[in-house]
Amino acid sequence: MPAITTRRDGDVLIVTSDNPPVNALSADVRQGLAAAIAEAEGDPQVKAVVIAAAGRTFFAGADITEFGKPPREPGLPAVIDAIEASGKPVVAAIHGTALGGGLEVALGCHYRIAAASAKLGLPEVKLGLLPGAGGTQRLPRVVGVEPALAMIVTGDPIPAKKAAAIGLVDALVADDLLLAEAIAFARAVADKDAHPVASTRADRIAGADAATFAAFRKANARRLKGFEAPEACIQAVEAAVALPYAEGVAKERALFLKLMNGTQSRALRHLFFAERAAAKIDGLPADTQTLPIAKVGILGAGTMGGGIAMNFLTAGIPVTIIEREQAALDRGIAIIRKNYEASAAKGRMTAEAVEKAMGNLAGSLDYADLADCDLVIEAVFELMEIKKEVFGRLDAIVKQGAILATNTSYLDVDEIAAATSRPEAVIGLHFFSPANVMKLLEIVRGAKTAPAVLATCMGLARRIGKIAVVSGVCHGFIGNRMLSPRQREANALLMEGARPVDVDRVLLDFGFPMGPFQMADLAGLDIGWDPAKSNGETLRDRLCEAGLRGQKNGRGFYDYDASRNRTPSAEAEAIIADFAAKAGTEQRSISDEEILERLLYPMVNEGALILEEGIAQRASDIDIVWLNGYGWPAWTGGPMFWADTIGLDTVVAGLEKHAARMPALRVSELLKARAAKGETFNG
Ligand code: 3HC
Ligand code: NAI
Repeated sequence: MPAITTRRDGDVLIVTSDNPPVNALSADVRQGLAAAIAEAEGDPQVKAVVIAAAGRTFFAGADITEFGKPPREPGLPAVIDAIEASGKPVVAAIHGTALGGGLEVALGCHYRIAAASAKLGLPEVKLGLLPGAGGTQRLPRVVGVEPALAMIVTGDPIPAKKAAAIGLVDALVADDLLLAEAIAFARAVADKDAHPVASTRADRIAGADAATFAAFRKANARRLKGFEAPEACIQAVEAAVALPYAEGVAKERALFLKLMNGTQSRALRHLFFAERAAAKIDGLPADTQTLPIAKVGILGAGTMGGGIAMNFLTAGIPVTIIEREQAALDRGIAIIRKNYEASAAKGRMTAEAVEKAMGNLAGSLDYADLADCDLVIEAVFELMEIKKEVFGRLDAIVKQGAILATNTSYLDVDEIAAATSRPEAVIGLHFFSPANVMKLLEIVRGAKTAPAVLATCMGLARRIGKIAVVSGVCHGFIGNRMLSPRQREANALLMEGARPVDVDRVLLDFGFPMGPFQMADLAGLDIGWDPAKSNGETLRDRLCEAGLRGQKNGRGFYDYDASRNRTPSAEAEAIIADFAAKAGTEQRSISDEEILERLLYPMVNEGALILEEGIAQRASDIDIVWLNGYGWPAWTGGPMFWADTIGLDTVVAGLEKHAARMPALRVSELLKARAAKGETFNG
């Protein structure tokens, strides 16, 4: 079956693409579209053309799997130019999503009709690219500069209704009538003398000036920091305004090719496929039966329990939350309400939605109220004895067939499972703080976790909008285990003479949103610190004894003013120097390069150990964890992809160079072997 077929409905030629799953514009689709337009041109019976797509969506863009390979003719820009140049009007009939090259095809059409549920967007920027088939030139001519900039630079799709409001769509129709309406529309316009041609329009871009672009750059500076593509997108739209169409297109092409061949786009494309790969589980058949989850129980209404509850409430799933004492329960529930009300105040949800979510929440002090839950997630204190005791109680109360999950950050899920008579029902669901916001969910597969339990949790993650990554059981799983060597080296660097601000700055420059010492100040230096037991033995003891608590009292590794601006704390630095002197550690000047290598190479090494031990299924899963759970900069592709780009031999050489200062480090055999053979993790 060819990807593109044509059929006649009277004097209208219907061109249908059928290239599952998302009608990507692969070479055969482009070829078929070009042939169909030629067919229409050559057939005097045809008065108008409709381009539609079969399956779940209109064209979702260029075929990303073709990127980085030798180009195949015809190119997409040429196909779109041919559509636009057609003497017979061409109508795009859009359902599902018209994305990237797909929307560019639609912009080449003379008219666009959309199903009410459709979405339209130019998400290329998320792949480190810009719309490279005329989109940056045609879209502003159709909708004006400001809406075009917003769509091209953020990459976020807009609903059909909004598209109609800004002039991107000519008519909105009910979903089930799309094709019939598109044919009728095509027939109605067929005899008009002239049809709108996006590339020749000038009315919408007239009057746009430098100030528009300057204001846009300023307003978006923070979210665009570090990424190359957004600035290139802005420059392409500037060209649309400043240059004749043909020159604007040439500029777009030059910028597109530069981005396509750059490391950032390679990294972001890697992440696109990595995110989809993470959903696939080795050894778990795709048709594994899942369990119904209609009611969720949560133990502990603290920092995590409350945030976890919100995920389910927002998705419309009833939650019962259990605490030890009424005061803790009341506090936890009040915080959930406060968070929802804050969202409502920002316009992110309606007052009714807040009440609906809260109406689905029940609080209790009695474990017996968890009996009929399909899933119970434990989020109590991080102590094995408590976890075991809690799971023993859950085992006695919760119905058979339910899933018993722990949100532990580090502890052995198999040991927790062994406290029950049904270890096959036990799994780790490791949410990240704030749990209602952070996208990542590490799903920890115990030695005995049943396939149905695992499959159910993967599906549930999707239902509550999380990106799930499967981890095996080990101390700290994928994410926190890799954080440990970074933290160890950050502390060691302080002892050796680096300032906290230097360590933080190196990571900020690399692209992290925060350095380890800023993070420590934010969390509070006294978390888990007991004044009664403090004896100045650790640096933390010394800092806390001196009254340094972090942001909460304005004094930590940094001093904070009333607006939380930070300046390095001379007091903290003096305590560190004194502590190092007493420990006999020689202080020296440490370069930024060494700081970066000491912090990040051991993380890559730990990632390699995690792969070697089979804790992570694939290197790209590790990248997804660090990107979505810990703010690793996306444009580097994550720790493992980043290591690939700088060369695994560089990482090994760096680890060897600093080996004497990192006695705790065990270099991964996998890393060494791949480096020696010139291989990569994501080969
Ligand atoms: N090319 C090739 N494969 C694609 C693809 C594309 N553009 N878009 C999706 N796929 C594949 C996915 O990899 C996945 O494959 P798998 O089943 O083997 O893992 C499959 O299609 C289904 O995708 P999803 O799991 O993402 O399905 P959803 O229904 O959740 O989402 C979607 C559908 C919204 C279309 C989403 O896939 C998406 O956002 N796709 C990318 C859209 C995009 O970025 N387009 C721009 C491409 S760049 C471009 O057009 C350049 C041009 O300007 C020249
Ligand atoms: P927290 O101290 O804020 O909350 C724990 C709550 O559990 C308290 O309100 C306490 O009263 C309650 N509790 C204790 N024993 C109980 C019992 N037997 N029955 C019912 N309630 C009980 O702790 P937090 O931060 O929410 O952590 C909970 C778990 O989540 C820990 O295992 C932690 O390691 C993990 N975690 C924490 C993250 C964080 O950033 N805070 C991130 C990811 C996981």
